Amino acid sequence: MNIAVFASHTGSDLQAIIDGCADGRINGRVCAVISNNTDAYALERANTAKIDSYCVNSSIYPNAAELDRRLLEILVSHDVDMVFLAGYLKKISIPILQKYDNRIFNIHPALLPKYGGRGMFGIDVHRAVIAAGEKISGITIHRVNEESDSGDIVAQTKVEIHPGDTPEILAARILEREHAFLVEVINDIQNGRIKFGK
Ligand code: GRF
Repeated sequence: MNIAVFASHTGSDLQAIIDGCADGRINGRVCAVISNNTDAYALERANTAKIDSYCVNSSIYPNAAELDRRLLEILVSHDVDMVFLAGYLKKISIPILQKYDNRIFNIHPALLPKYGGRGMFGIDVHRAVIAAGEKISGITIHRVNEESDSGDIVAQTKVEIHPGDTPEILAARILEREHAFLVEVINDIQNGRIKFGK
């Protein structure tokens, strides 16, 4: 299975997928890494792992249709089966959603539908969760549609919030769990436990 990963920043989730493929926990390979951010550490991780990487953004492609065409061209040229958004902060356009219907997934560091959508990324997610006095947070993997964090949920796991947790401490606990959870869920997708493709 050819997996393309979109990532805007650090790419530790990307690394978890790369490692899962390398040691056989995932039956597939990361064939392309795409970022909108020239400085994303995710691109360096891709280079280290000798994976083709691409920076595609509106500075390089000011015309939105051209940008979409370029993204599609990359995905098609790598014969991509599955797309994972792992900390990618841009929306996916309709032509790509249509071409890869039911094949694009996103990971979010909270229990959607709460704490998702506009403004809910990075540490702000965990700030909101703690400010609301939640005792449990978690991770959601969902299908991607036109709106942020609102596609069908395919998997969730809970992560405890401990008394005295700061948003940073909670973020680190959740991120660590994300790395294993991603591998588990990609397996579930591949094994047909989660509907995939047509
Ligand atoms: C993760 O918390 C993920 O849930 C969210 O973005 C973060 C990406 O972290 N969508 P990293 O860049 O992979 O370390």
